[in-house]
Amino acid sequence: MKFQNVDSMLEEIKEAVITDDASLEQFRIAYLGTKNKIKPLFSEMRNIDNEHKKAYGQALNSLKQVAEGMYTEHKDKISQAENNSAAQEIDLSAPVPHDLVGSRHPVSIIMNRMIDVFTRIGFEVAEEREIEEDWYNFTAMNTPDDHPARDMQDTFYLKGSLQQLLRTHTSSVQARVMTTQKPPIRIIAPGRVYRNETISARSHCQFHQVEGLYVDENVSFADMKQTLLYFAKAIYGSETKIRLRPSYFPFTEPSAEMDVWLGTETDQAKKLTKGTGWLEVLGCGMVDPQVLENCGIDSEKYTGYAFGIGIERSAMQTFDISDIRYLFENDVRFLSQFKSAQFT
Ligand code: DAH
Repeated sequence: MKFQNVDSMLEEIKEAVITDDASLEQFRIAYLGTKNKIKPLFSEMRNIDNEHKKAYGQALNSLKQVAEGMYTEHKDKISQAENNSAAQEIDLSAPVPHDLVGSRHPVSIIMNRMIDVFTRIGFEVAEEREIEEDWYNFTAMNTPDDHPARDMQDTFYLKGSLQQLLRTHTSSVQARVMTTQKPPIRIIAPGRVYRNETISARSHCQFHQVEGLYVDENVSFADMKQTLLYFAKAIYGSETKIRLRPSYFPFTEPSAEMDVWLGTETDQAKKLTKGTGWLEVLGCGMVDPQVLENCGIDSEKYTGYAFGIGIERSAMQTFDISDIRYLFENDVRFLSQFKSAQFT
């Protein structure tokens, strides 16, 4: 017995094109969903003669089975195809990449070298906050509100407060340490500092310093000079010469800047020293007695020296980096160049 409506539906089902998840879902909705196209054929049952009802019912049931069969068959095919293409993307025979280890940042490399040099002669590392109170950054360091030296350092203040700022130098750690420890004090303070400067190849709004502070009885300028000479030799080579030029910082008196002699023989040295042979390395001086007093240390009894070394310039010289911005972009192509056992 043939039923025309069942036959044409069967044809329609067989001709359905199922190629992916979307067309599979369309098929399911059309022939197996709650409002599928086969359902109305079941309602036609009442118009079929009694003697054909059974055959009609069987024809419809097998129609349903065909639809179900096609659905599962295509579903399996599609998911297998998906698995295959996923498997192709993973090459199980590919060699394991060996370059997944990280590398030290050039700034950390230089900072660690300096920390090493000073801890060898008894300096301890003191780390402090980057969000600092005005008092520790400026006032305690002999730089009160109206002091012209504040103009030397363009400060980032925290929103809504002139009392809180991003430290402009690691000298703030001097005040932190001197207000909480008693002499003898011998610390170095490595860390990040911030200044509101226009970003260019040569300057950035963030950079790093290593601060040094030694406070004890009878600490002299000569002690400072010997320590800095030792530092210069450790970093620049045992033949290194230094010179101290008079300078000015509010928190030291007398103040100086230290240069190291690189000479003018190599092109590199000529370039770094702008032809003079001398490379400017750090600021230093005897701690101003007023700074000791501000921090509660008896300036009649104690004296001290301090110094501050910039890290970025040294890192750029050491690794021949032409633009300071490379140090803060964290581009893996740049950073991975420092992947070597010698850079620790
Ligand atoms: N804080 C100074 C700066 O950022 C650097 C400095 C100079 C630090 C002399 C010192 C020092 O401790 O004695 O420019």
